Amino acid sequence: MTARPPAHRGEDRATRRPLRTALLIGATTAVAALTAMFVIPDANAAASTLGAAAAQSGRYFGTAIAAGKLGDSAYTTIAAREFNMVTPENEMKIDATEPQRGQFSFGNADQIYNWATQRGMKVRGHTLAWHSQQPGWMQSLSGSTLRQAMIDHINGVMAHYKGKLAYWDVVNEAFNEDGSRRQSNLQGTGNDWIEVAFRTARAADPSVKLCYNDYNIENWSYAKTQGVYNMIRDFKSRGVPIDCVGLQTHFTGGSSLPGNFQTTLSSFAALGVDVALTEVDVTNASTSQYAGLTQACMNVSRCVGITVWGVRDSDSWRSSESPLLFNGSGQAKAAYSSVLNALNAAGPGPSPSASSSSPAPSTSSSPSASPTPSTGGASKIVGSQSGRCIDVPNSSHNNGTRVQLYDCHGLTNQQWTYTASRQLQVYGSMCLDAAGSGNGSAVQIYSCNGQTNQQWNVNSNGTITGVQSGRCIDVWSTANGAQVQIYDCSGQANQQFRLAAL
Ligand code: XIL
Repeated sequence: MTARPPAHRGEDRATRRPLRTALLIGATTAVAALTAMFVIPDANAAASTLGAAAAQSGRYFGTAIAAGKLGDSAYTTIAAREFNMVTPENEMKIDATEPQRGQFSFGNADQIYNWATQRGMKVRGHTLAWHSQQPGWMQSLSGSTLRQAMIDHINGVMAHYKGKLAYWDVVNEAFNEDGSRRQSNLQGTGNDWIEVAFRTARAADPSVKLCYNDYNIENWSYAKTQGVYNMIRDFKSRGVPIDCVGLQTHFTGGSSLPGNFQTTLSSFAALGVDVALTEVDVTNASTSQYAGLTQACMNVSRCVGITVWGVRDSDSWRSSESPLLFNGSGQAKAAYSSVLNALNAAGPGPSPSASSSSPAPSTSSSPSASPTPSTGGASKIVGSQSGRCIDVPNSSHNNGTRVQLYDCHGLTNQQWTYTASRQLQVYGSMCLDAAGSGNGSAVQIYSCNGQTNQQWNVNSNGTITGVQSGRCIDVWSTANGAQVQIYDCSGQANQQFRLAAL
């Protein structure tokens, strides 16, 4: 008798070889006979809990847990069965963990930590620096005293959980709806407070992933989303330690699932960070919105998991909107099935190789550099997919201005001269420049300096690759204003660019 090989959940059925199909058909008679006696486990069977279903694609499915409810067995039964990641709903916040300055208190947080880890669940820390739920003593501080208090708080709490947590929401909700910084007492200590928080956190516990977390950043065309995106891009380009962005995904209180949610997730991910849906709830638990938000995560390999903000509707901070997956009696709602089905249908998920730190890009064919275009003078750089040109916004001459796609018009801010030293010069003295070498690094203009991040190979396969990074010039949209980055060469159309006569 031959054992049936375990099929990988992410296996694409369409790619299975005919030979294997033939073998399976051939075996059908024998299998049919055997099933009369044994139940043969089907490796492709759908998982029956949220955590197990998410785990099939390497993701997690979590919930917020309140310490005060751990004595409620109806609550803990569901939570222990369904989830494999836990976020303490309030117990790791600043007021809970440092009620008096310099006096830390971890009783309730540890209760949740122990409950979760004893059941094999992981824990997400939430949150170290936030304008809200500050203890009274912190609310009244400002300036350098508050800055130091924030640093001391991060160090104190992270020391207690060093090596124990999967993620930390280092900074929570630091932006206004218009994309500017929220005017909190922390912001008043100086615009660098967020990066100081992240640098402090990395030094305190290098083992935990450090996240920025916010709400209303799910719609890609919303100003707040762009504000946060620009900060993450800036952090990545300057080496500020950040590993992930948490999108709270509160589709309650008037918000709903935007059609471009997946674009938002993949755009953040392209900067070289993981993304996660961290506090999901949906007004009246709309099945289509729950399915859609789950599917968006499944479609983005660096979307590492989903957390709902509570177990039953009666546990929700917005219980009047009945926004969760279980009703007050603990029964699964229709939205539960829509989420479970989307998780079960997912292909392979977050892969470690998706990391931004992988040194060498892989290309499907190895390109060779082609000679300088015969015009000899300036060229336009045209994206094959968009038909649009690489353009310096507003004809800026400022170092660090990120280039974009724009309708070709042939003016000087779209005129590039490919030199013998492989620079792409604009305005005579400035060069196309990679702001970093990782996936998602911005492509910008900078004063020519002869370094390898300003050298480009114009390849015969239609790509332009950075000499320093080996990665391809890439855009994630064809629209006017689409920003240009470098990314692992994928052979796809959004990485096809040609130098053409003006
Ligand atoms: C909420 C909790 O659910 C409530 O119990 C508490 O009273 C207020 O905070 N964004 C966040 C979460 O990051 O910490 C908030 O949690 C919900 C909004």
